Amino acid sequence: IPVAPFTLTVFGATGDLSRRKLIPALFHRDLDGQIPDEATIIGVSRRPLSDDEFRAFARQALNDHIPAAELQGPEVDRFLGRLSYVAADAGAEPGWSELASRVAAQADHVPVYYLATAPALFGPICEKLGKYGLAENGRVVIEKPIGKDLKSAIALNQQVGRIFPEDRVYRIDHYLGKETVQNLMALRFANALFEPLWNNAHIDHVQITVAEALGVEERAGYYDTAGAMRDMVQNHMLQLLCLVAMEPPSSLDADAVRDEKLKVLRALKPIDDHNMATVTVRGQYRAGASAGGAVPGYLEELGSSRSQTETFVAVKAEVENWRWAGVPFYLRTGKRLASRVSEIVVNFRPVPHSVFDDTAGPIDPNRLVIRLQPDEGVKLWLMIKDPGPGGIRLTHVPLDMSFAKAFKVRNPDAYERLILDVVRGNQTLFMRRDEVEAAWRWVDPILEAWRSAKEPPRPYTAGTWGPSAAIALIERDGRTWLEDG
Ligand code: BG6
Repeated sequence: IPVAPFTLTVFGATGDLSRRKLIPALFHRDLDGQIPDEATIIGVSRRPLSDDEFRAFARQALNDHIPAAELQGPEVDRFLGRLSYVAADAGAEPGWSELASRVAAQADHVPVYYLATAPALFGPICEKLGKYGLAENGRVVIEKPIGKDLKSAIALNQQVGRIFPEDRVYRIDHYLGKETVQNLMALRFANALFEPLWNNAHIDHVQITVAEALGVEERAGYYDTAGAMRDMVQNHMLQLLCLVAMEPPSSLDADAVRDEKLKVLRALKPIDDHNMATVTVRGQYRAGASAGGAVPGYLEELGSSRSQTETFVAVKAEVENWRWAGVPFYLRTGKRLASRVSEIVVNFRPVPHSVFDDTAGPIDPNRLVIRLQPDEGVKLWLMIKDPGPGGIRLTHVPLDMSFAKAFKVRNPDAYERLILDVVRGNQTLFMRRDEVEAAWRWVDPILEAWRSAKEPPRPYTAGTWGPSAAIALIERDGRTWLEDG
């Protein structure tokens, strides 16, 4: 879908997000012919750089993150030609008038401001955008972490909201831009097959795993102030849970979808110091091994022996409504786990009665696996008869749809879609203010219960599936984690 000409201003343009994600994503869209000729991109940060120096920075970002074969054509120079640079500081005046005149020079463009900066700068940057007349008709994009608890999230949302009305605020959760996550909506609402079974009469439980093999590495400084609950569960994991659990919206209109997600967040059973010990596990990795060899523990990476920040969380969440009563949603996420796997596994109930005799073997319940990464795809596990002339022996096989094999196209990065959705004015895949706050409302008492229990996180060896307590959490309910759905 074509987009209108835009002027995208990226604050924090020389930072990590810009280098690793935004510049490569914009180049890819340009390469695919999706960016109108007139569109321009203005980088802003405190560093004094010329336009050419910023272009050289962007060129390096492309070299580092895009396969060389895609950087051979004239598109690279066309893309770099869209870039310019203004040095400005959120706390000082120089640079802002220059930025304002560059944006004003393209008055017929959609003005987009991407705040790829520390959240502490969101408020001050928005204020300056307001003061220099840049906010009018402008759209602002902000990233997590949106606060570190409910109170700070409300304060941050208020600061941004003083300048930009909610319908021009785009809160990115990049998991919502992943192909397979959007496919979850297609799977649920474009097939007649699943929705009638999508409830507690037919689904036994749901598992959501977002496992990373990497440690925190050079992000230890930020990570130590957050931990896995704030970094992954409050946003990505809860968004995935919402997409599985929400009622069918009446359309894909942004508010129709977000209203349904909000209802799920509000229906989450509270976890506090009464039940925290039985339904949550927090862990922290120790030295161990990954595919590449020996790896240090979290405390070594951080350079401090005292941190009690969790690098792993497992939670048994419950959605208290008619559809989901009694169906646990087991969530787990962690750094330095055995492999990089993100998937949602919907486990159906067993058949009510077996017509087969013992020689047929056990009947495994059906499972629907939505694999986010790697090897994006969808698998439906079914029971069939083992081929052969003997009696009936049953076996479990997957109907397996790998996107890479089925479509043979490059899987676009989440940011490619999300940035252009901002220009399109489509907020469906962005978090609304009340959603973010509802997620914190559920997370805050868990963090508080952990804090008051004063128990250190449980150690786990890097390269494993987390602390044994996480296995006990699900096995207590007579279920097991599925390592490869
Ligand atoms: C980010 C977290 O939001 O998501 C990181 O801050 C995490 O800690 C990352 O590594 C995971 O994203 P992806 O797309 O690699 O699964």
